[in-house]
Amino acid sequence: MKDFKGKILFVTGGASGAGLGQAKVFGREGMKVCIADVRQDALDNAVNELIAFGIKKEDILAIKVDLTNREEYKAAADKVEETFGGPPHLLIQTAGVNSFGPIEASTFDDFDWVMGVCLNHVVNGLLIFVPRMIKAYAHKTEFWVATTSSMGAFMAGSGTGPYSAAKAAVNNLMYSYAEALRPYGAGATVLCPGNINSNIGNAEKYRPANLKNTGYHVSEGTMAHLRSVHATGIDPVELAEILKEGIENGRIIVLPDHTPENRAAQLRGLNATIEDYTLTAAERDAKNAERMAAMRKMMEEAAKKGENPPMMWKVPEGAEEFGHARHDLDWIDQARK
Ligand code: NAI
Repeated sequence: MKDFKGKILFVTGGASGAGLGQAKVFGREGMKVCIADVRQDALDNAVNELIAFGIKKEDILAIKVDLTNREEYKAAADKVEETFGGPPHLLIQTAGVNSFGPIEASTFDDFDWVMGVCLNHVVNGLLIFVPRMIKAYAHKTEFWVATTSSMGAFMAGSGTGPYSAAKAAVNNLMYSYAEALRPYGAGATVLCPGNINSNIGNAEKYRPANLKNTGYHVSEGTMAHLRSVHATGIDPVELAEILKEGIENGRIIVLPDHTPENRAAQLRGLNATIEDYTLTAAERDAKNAERMAAMRKMMEEAAKKGENPPMMWKVPEGAEEFGHARHDLDWIDQARK
């Protein structure tokens, strides 16, 4: 999809972080911008930011919606059509939350919240919007679906289970949609960032009341730690520009690097960790040790040059390690609490 001017964008999680960056970048291309988010205060701020960014007030529609709720999502889709005269030409599903801790400590609430937002809302949007988009635009006008997934889609971690599983599923879905939409003259793209300078470190603060029973140790201190990690991430506007280039050129996976060589190298590195699952335990341990040594060397060299390499952040005073289990769970290894 190359021509955005005058067309309609629907971006989920558009009130903050990566989604707001996408609303700005595609809005600057002349799109009518609909941002959908669960937080009204964040939506109000986002509208002001979009206007300050140069997007006309009449081209912005902000909708408060819990996208995991299908009826609410359908009502939001109807509202876009009523306001802008049709379904979106570009659907970007970016809303997401994270919550980290040992997978063996996870509760149903942990899975339902994280997978509900990171995976189920994506399914909801695809099932609600794609038929409307095909009916309105197939073979007439360019249209596209995109999702913000994560590099976590290519990895697994004993402390990121529900999140990584959701993102892996989202990637797989988008490969299917990319193929399915081609005959209609459309396509799909999945953006897989590593770290974004966003507000996701605060997600636990607005976790729904009915899904509060977590098996992870969550506190102001763990959130402060997460925020310090994300503060070193890529700027959302820069990330959205990379996504735009990917959509314009029909890329299915978009990794947050500008050069094709680096993107290919990143993916080879990520795939190598999956290949390692076929090795024996001893072979895997040796490979891991090799990788850790290479990573330490890279970080030391970058630090010597005064650079700020990925995964080097300053932990704020009073912060606590995130990714541990709730202290009262008696089946969890002491080291994981
Ligand atoms: P963010 O917290 O700044 O933005 C996410 C938005 O999603 C928030 O405004 C939040 O209110 C909204 N949201 C959450 N649940 C919702 C629901 N049920 N209905 C409607 N809206 C809801 O976070 P960020 O980082 O910009 O996240 C965007 C996407 O990027 C997510 O899918 C995340 O998983 C992904 N990602 C983030 C990374 C990071 O380092 N921050 C790295 C890789 C991927």
